[in-house]
Amino acid sequence: MSPLQGKRIVLGVTGGIAAYKAIEICRRLVDAGAHVVPIMTDAAQHFVGPTTLSALASEPVQTELWNNATTPIPHTKVGQGADLIVVAPATAKAIAAYRIGYSHDLLQNTLIATRAPVIVCPAMHTEMWEHPSVVDNISTLRERGVHIVEPESGRLAGGDVGAGRLASPESIVAAAERVLGPSDLLGVSMIVSAGGTREPIDSVRVIANRSSGKQGYAVAAEAAARGASVTLVSTVSLPVPAGVTVVSVETAAQMQAAIEAHAPSTDVIVMAAAVADFRPVHAADHKLKKHDGAPEVVLEATPDILAGLGERKPEGQVLVGFAAETNDLVANAQSKLERKRLDLIVANDVSAPDVGFAHDTNAVTLLRPGAKPVEIDLASKRDVARAVIDTIAEIQTGKN
Ligand code: CTP
Repeated sequence: MSPLQGKRIVLGVTGGIAAYKAIEICRRLVDAGAHVVPIMTDAAQHFVGPTTLSALASEPVQTELWNNATTPIPHTKVGQGADLIVVAPATAKAIAAYRIGYSHDLLQNTLIATRAPVIVCPAMHTEMWEHPSVVDNISTLRERGVHIVEPESGRLAGGDVGAGRLASPESIVAAAERVLGPSDLLGVSMIVSAGGTREPIDSVRVIANRSSGKQGYAVAAEAAARGASVTLVSTVSLPVPAGVTVVSVETAAQMQAAIEAHAPSTDVIVMAAAVADFRPVHAADHKLKKHDGAPEVVLEATPDILAGLGERKPEGQVLVGFAAETNDLVANAQSKLERKRLDLIVANDVSAPDVGFAHDTNAVTLLRPGAKPVEIDLASKRDVARAVIDTIAEIQTGKN
């Protein structure tokens, strides 16, 4: 279950071109189970119509401090009832008003009448974002404990390019999950591998597999949301989850080098990647030509990264493997758990519908040494990641 489930989140939209992105943020918060209370400033309504936001939010947009039909005494009621306030986008003016407590409209009243955590997501032109007044206001808000989701670099209104573009809806929702979710992995370092490795035959052809990397990314996102410091060693390019550092690799050998460089000092290693078991002995450094006939590709075994980590596992480290099986799921996974000296193996039957490779859903069995298998029924990959991380947190607590 998402930590946003059942939470009352005020979404404050102020007047910048990025206001249109608030629609997507609202939809994602509602999808995660939040009750979204939208507030728009007068300026915001120049950019998007309140009707659109009202249609997607959990209740109609509120815009008025006076004659507010939705809430009596709106200047305090909305903020008092909130579990979280997200201001996205936040203009330079809204940030300045919040800093000095200038409560001239419903949003600013709500911000200073609340005890709930606040996330501010600035969006403005680079010159404004870098102006000393804005820098100073942001730094003061930070000192007060306000969470700032920094803008990204990219194309801005009018065609300019630079820092100041509103952070992506994924990062803003991830920040909300971080703020409202448990922080049980604070101070924990984690490596997660994701995607299928690609082993070259020649300079253009590879031996690959069907892994999409989605489950590994979901594990990394969930761990980071709960406070872990996460390095994701990946063969695919999906959107990078907030707070995660990505190291891009292609082959099993590159993945092994990237993981082993940091493995000894890492608290948790999750091998969600589908590592090729075999690779061509020789990869031609040019493109093999068809008219030369079918090439004979001789294969050799790749190093088993996980088994190697299991052999050298430092005291207290948690080692997690994945097992994609098509038959005898529990027996096969159990044997990998023991052979590779793992603390947990996440087994899935990739022949079942909607399970495993490329799907957005998964159904897994969690196996630990000496414990009864735990089945996680078909759910989103993020929900499966949550169950995996819950189990890792439990193992960690037992070890420390
Ligand atoms: N793995 C690994 N290095 C490899 C192969 C696999 O680190 N060269 C890891 C995977 O990331 C996964 C786990 O080992 O976490 C299980 O992989 P799998 O290939 O299914 O295990 P095998 O022991 O190779 O079993 P199988 O007989 O099914 O191929």
